Amino acid sequence: MDTQKIPQHVAIIMDGNGRWAERRKMPRTQGHLEGVKRVAEIVDVAVELGIKVLTLYTFSQENWKRPEAEVSMLMQTICKALDLKSGELMRLNIQLRFIGRREGVPAHVLKQFERTAKLTSKNTGLILNLAFNYSSRTEILDGVRKVVEDVKAGAFDLEDLDEESFSRSLYTKGLPDPDLLIRTSGEQRISNFLLWQLSYAEFYFAESCWPDFTGEEFRKAIAEYQHRERRFGDVAGV
Ligand code: IPE
Ligand code: IPE
Ligand code: MG
Repeated sequence: MDTQKIPQHVAIIMDGNGRWAERRKMPRTQGHLEGVKRVAEIVDVAVELGIKVLTLYTFSQENWKRPEAEVSMLMQTICKALDLKSGELMRLNIQLRFIGRREGVPAHVLKQFERTAKLTSKNTGLILNLAFNYSSRTEILDGVRKVVEDVKAGAFDLEDLDEESFSRSLYTKGLPDPDLLIRTSGEQRISNFLLWQLSYAEFYFAESCWPDFTGEEFRKAIAEYQHRERRFGDVAGV
């Protein structure tokens, strides 16, 4: 692997937990539990490779439509994982962040996110960005609302609105845009994830369901990214 060409920011749509379990005649929830193990493995590889930001699509605003039992299991699993892994996050110098709408997240879950984010806030290694109760369209609307409010309050001049200043109104404020988007489970869609930020990202679709997406598969995705030619609208080879 070319150590000079490591993507700064990788975003992952961790999909296929349910199908992974169903194919094994297990309850969908078992797939989520197995998926958590892969998160730990992928985070380790990201740290090892020196990736700066890893954004994981953990729970979308649309995922509230799922059966209550699955949703409450997911809430419990994420809280437990954040709590159990906090020592590991400190050991690996990882800073945990949360992107998504705070309104609508159950209080105890939000508290756990805030506790872990605060604990790790001074860490200087990998930024592990968890998209939770996340919807990209909502994020953009929240950004527009912020701009309008700032203009009304006289804190922002509409003349200064450009891509850079608008990016600062998004949940991902201060982070570089993703270089690489990975989606597992063979689905090839974006499902309301980082619509603004993915403008020039490279896309990689893996056939494996998330619980089968090993560190080795992750390295394969990075290696493939390294062979892509990014043009940003320019002509090739300059
Ligand atoms: C991804 O796996 C995890 C979440 C969305 C929380 P899914 O639960 O979407 O698994 P499939 O797509 O139904 O197989
Ligand atoms: C996207 O996966 C959300 C997460 C991985 C958290 P979904 O499984 O919810 O997406 P769709 O419904 O297949 O588009
Ligand atoms: Mg899915």
